[in-house]
Amino acid sequence: MAPSDSAIKKNVRESIKYIRKSISLEPKIAVILGSGLGDFADSLEDKIKIATADIPHYPKSTVEGHRGFLVFGKLNGLSVMAVQGRTHYYEGHSIPEVAYVVRIMAEIGIKTLLVTNAAGGVNPLFKPGDLMIIDDHINFMFRNPLRGPVIEPETRWTDMYQAYDRKCIQTIEEIGLALGIPLRKGVLFASTGPTYETASEVKMAQKMGGDAVSMSTVPEVLIARSRGIKVAGISCITNMATGISKTALSHREVTEIANQVKDKFQKLIREILIKLGNAA
Ligand code: HPA
Repeated sequence: MAPSDSAIKKNVRESIKYIRKSISLEPKIAVILGSGLGDFADSLEDKIKIATADIPHYPKSTVEGHRGFLVFGKLNGLSVMAVQGRTHYYEGHSIPEVAYVVRIMAEIGIKTLLVTNAAGGVNPLFKPGDLMIIDDHINFMFRNPLRGPVIEPETRWTDMYQAYDRKCIQTIEEIGLALGIPLRKGVLFASTGPTYETASEVKMAQKMGGDAVSMSTVPEVLIARSRGIKVAGISCITNMATGISKTALSHREVTEIANQVKDKFQKLIREILIKLGNAA
């Protein structure tokens, strides 16, 4: 059975009580950093890092390349919260655990969430190293953190119309142009992992309208939308998906490409957070 409404609320309250002992910032914008993309959090000014392992009820991160910290700091004077080391379903966590941090965000007062991830390119026009604005998603994880008792003010029938905010997308497109960083735009197809897809599954994802495949992001977005948090997303295309790529995939390749695009990615994320954060 899913934990009860009151148990989750109590856990979130206790997590926040611990976090509040270390931070007094009131960020309105947050970013979740994907595989190999976590270094951005270290570029925040006046930062305070809280190890997620120390936060009561926070699920423990176990993946190589994922450091588990909530990082609070500033960008040009703007308060920002960054999640360094996301919680993945494939680590063995439940889907509500994967999205737990977004319930913390909602209670802390976050109004806009930028989700990022490493993803495989399904659209044949993409190349490893491309950055893609997430236009929409396909929840091929077939799991939903909102299942179970309704945790008010979340709602049972959360609307997914324009789940990724149109105005945020436009702002990100303008930032890409201003910085001279070409951006793709497409649909994220999320499966549970931890295996990469077969070539046939990638063909299916393509036929269904997917442009990139990943093993994350969707659960967090579902809770964010249920709490009225605006969502924007960037996928880092770290490899072409199976079958499109002519070689076998490896986690090392994913982290290597993420590392190669680090400067471009960080420059973009910084501008996005400043622009969207000032509008939040
Ligand atoms: N598939 C799923 N998830 C991924 C991939 C992929 O090819 N690359 C990075 N994350």
